[in-house]
Amino acid sequence: MNIPEIRKICCIGAGYVGGPTMAVMAQKCPHIRVVVVDVNEHKIAQWNDTNLDNLPVYEPGLKEVVKEARGRNLFFSTDMDAEIDNADMVFISVNTPTKTYGKGKGMAADLKYVELSARKIAEVATSDKIVVEKSTIPIRTAQAVRKILSNTGNGVNFQILSNPEFLAEGTAVNDLYNPDRVLIGGEESEDGKKAMEALASVYNNWIPKERILQTNIWSSELSKLVANAFLAQRISSINAISALCEKTEADVDEVAKAIGMDTRIGAKFLRSSVGFGGSCFQKDILNLVYISRFYGLDEVAYYWEGVLDINDYQKNRFADSIIIKLNNTLSDKKIAFLGWAFKKDTNDSRESAAIYVADRLMEDKGTIAVYDPKVSEKRMHDDINYLNTRDKEENDKLLQYYPDPYEAMKDAYAIAVLTEWDEFLDYDWQKVYDNMIKPAYIFDGRNILNHDKLRKIGFNVQGIGKKNK
Ligand code: NAD
Ligand code: UGA
Repeated sequence: MNIPEIRKICCIGAGYVGGPTMAVMAQKCPHIRVVVVDVNEHKIAQWNDTNLDNLPVYEPGLKEVVKEARGRNLFFSTDMDAEIDNADMVFISVNTPTKTYGKGKGMAADLKYVELSARKIAEVATSDKIVVEKSTIPIRTAQAVRKILSNTGNGVNFQILSNPEFLAEGTAVNDLYNPDRVLIGGEESEDGKKAMEALASVYNNWIPKERILQTNIWSSELSKLVANAFLAQRISSINAISALCEKTEADVDEVAKAIGMDTRIGAKFLRSSVGFGGSCFQKDILNLVYISRFYGLDEVAYYWEGVLDINDYQKNRFADSIIIKLNNTLSDKKIAFLGWAFKKDTNDSRESAAIYVADRLMEDKGTIAVYDPKVSEKRMHDDINYLNTRDKEENDKLLQYYPDPYEAMKDAYAIAVLTEWDEFLDYDWQKVYDNMIKPAYIFDGRNILNHDKLRKIGFNVQGIGKKNK
């Protein structure tokens, strides 16, 4: 197969990964033409909006990157056929959600969009291409992609690489500038090695060689799922301990600090919370569990399932503590939510703990007044309606969006902190207290507020893994 120096890249999927990843690649490689394509015309129009505040993804620093590269060597387009055929290298960066139907429902990854992308490449390609799996996929997906691509019958050759993405939302631009590592998996043939080198040389425009790791394709595919499983496992581990802290008067932040100073354990990802959210941890662990079962490894499956069980337990525990404190009845009571996003500095709310906590409180007829600096009203309502717990009219009544945090908290019986947005720290908490129903409760699901100061004002404060004074 002819493997040229890469000059033209096309990425299928203009989402949270495709958009920022390609924007940074274009910024760092001005000699490469990078085109991001998507079936979603509205999203492409947003990426092309002259007002950079309308980009579909909010990430600190992203606007500046897009401003520099867009129109120079970065383009967003719906002309998929032409752009795919024009490229030397095609990234597949489409969504891979948990299957909601058929075999593997609720567990396996839905590879429909990956397969459609592979079929599209097979259909329109008239020259040899390197196809890169950027989406997170189950191990051995490259085999399925290869089967589709090698049956085109039009004489075009393909090399398939696995190049999983490790960026975290909210810090995507920085993660893309300075990744701990870039992982590239490929075939162990001569062409496979050349294809890996071609992709490595693209990254080498801004990432040092020693951080570009090359492995066999299966190790690369599996490492992505394993990395997410290990990260989520740390959060569930500290969250499990938070429940024990609440019973024993140990303080979870002190415990996390004490164990994290052991360099073998490390300090990162030990922040106890209301539970992890995001589009990937849960789906990737479910996928790992499904694959383990598929290979008859039930004990392995149970082990990883425990990480998700603790995460559900943590969300429910948090919601239940609010219900109990408010005398087991939330009817006609306003509960203010600070934050809806699954973490700070993103407008993404997929699988956010806030959704599940709200749903549980709404089951008790609580009225939820939400303020989030970046998540839209429509998105909040879509999130809650998607659960199908009650009809839309009831959801519209019980879930209320507030563009102003003080209005959200006015006349509330309780405040729940669901996202760790920095701005929450600087609120005029005396003013908030004065305008609330007493006793005024704060449930800090992120342990970010100054609890002692709030107690002095008069609040009744409950943190995660903290002594409930
Ligand atoms: P996303 O939903 O934000 O974006 C996916 C995009 O793909 C959508 O815009 C959709 O319209 C488009 N798409 C779907 N099918 C298509 C098709 N056949 N042709 C053209 N476009 C199509 O998803 P995301 O968050 O960017 O995630 C993409 C992948 O990356 C997933 O596998 C995810 O697990 C993985 N990942 C995500 C993150 C993250 O932080 N979000 C980080 C690392 C890896
Ligand atoms: C995560 C991984 O960190 C990325 O490496 C990976 O690429 C990505 O998933 C993916 O595959 O999608 P992301 O979900 O964007 O990134 O954000 P994280 O910073 O990992 O946070 C995930 C969730 O865990 C958030 O709800 C966050 O609030 C929570 N969290 C994180 C904690 O509760 N405690 C912590 O100590 C850290």
